[in-house]
Amino acid sequence: MRYVTLSQLFEHPITQKYVKRSGMAHAIACAYHAFRLAKQFQVNPDHATKAAFLHDIGHYTWYRNGQWDYDLYKENDIHAIKGAERAHKLLIRLGEHPRAAKAIALAILLHTDSYLPKGHLHLDPLQRVVALADEADEEPSGDHHYRQISDARARKMLVALDRKVEDALLSWESIDEQSG
Ligand SMILES: [Fe+2]
Repeated sequence: MRYVTLSQLFEHPITQKYVKRSGMAHAIACAYHAFRLAKQFQVNPDHATKAAFLHDIGHYTWYRNGQWDYDLYKENDIHAIKGAERAHKLLIRLGEHPRAAKAIALAILLHTDSYLPKGHLHLDPLQRVVALADEADEEPSGDHHYRQISDARARKMLVALDRKVEDALLSWESIDEQSG
């Protein structure tokens, strides 16, 4: 059962404001990577694609004198925390199941460990898929945040991915029922 689609998320003003700030092309590329990885790791494709699509929704722009300042970012950034909360609020507002909203928010919270004290995270399969999807689209010096995509192309890609998720979800749900 799917409560919220990627296309619905795309149209919401919160997504338009914050996902565009961190890079819509990157968000969509990550959602596609997550779809592929979800199959590989036997993870719910609906949760994986939505978490990957929204994973950078908490980004803030760290500028000093009109230039992106990576040191400032490293020192002060909490985009994963902000993103988890923002994505959760948005999903609930659109009618997401609270259990799915929590799983997606946690995957966003843990998609990077750059803001955490040194240590070792044990990610569950969904969290792992989202972190790997992000890594798969990363470019040197953060260039993936600046790649552009038109609204028309973004919509088309998300409608296509929504269809793929719906198909994949049918077989995923039957596997999930058998195993649990
Ligand atoms: Fe990212």
